[in-house]
Amino acid sequence: MSKSHPESRSAPDSAAPNLNQQGVVTQAYGTIVKLPNGLSESVCTKSVALLNQTLADTMTLRDLYKKHHWQVVGPTFDQLHLLFDKHYEAQAELVDLVAERIQVLGGVTLAMAADVAEITRIPRPPRGREPAVVQLSRLAEAHEMIIIAARKNAEIVADTGDSGTNDLLVSNVLRTNELQAWFLTEHLVAVTPVAA
Ligand SMILES: [Fe+2]
Repeated sequence: MSKSHPESRSAPDSAAPNLNQQGVVTQAYGTIVKLPNGLSESVCTKSVALLNQTLADTMTLRDLYKKHHWQVVGPTFDQLHLLFDKHYEAQAELVDLVAERIQVLGGVTLAMAADVAEITRIPRPPRGREPAVVQLSRLAEAHEMIIIAARKNAEIVADTGDSGTNDLLVSNVLRTNELQAWFLTEHLVAVTPVAA
């Protein structure tokens, strides 16, 4: 008599996925789980609130870049199409850095578009296409909002002793947005044509 193969002893449905699972939220938005990072709960709570605002604004700017990357028109199409996508990629990297800093501090990140739309301070653009100069101007204004907030928030978290968040806001958020704002606004200068 032959021995049964080991696989034949497993339950017939054990590989079936258990879908439609329901559960409770394990950490509410706005709360902190204390992690061994040497920072008090109140310091982490303050930093996470500032970072979630930064995250909402950065996600909005990231998506504004993709909208403009797709919809740009005019004689500078190729240049702006590429520039907008390059800036989009850098903003997407910032989104991940800021979001993961929130988790490092024991917080909960904003993530979904509907929640971001409720919290961001960047004005909602029209769904339709706009001229390139309007796109550039709209992006530059969004950068300035983020720049002003990043500078102010960097001082706040420096005062509370959260050096990691201070470094993120200065080295990453502030510096990236300053650089991108410069690249944009140089396109908005009315240059006198060179005489023939
Ligand atoms: Fe593309």
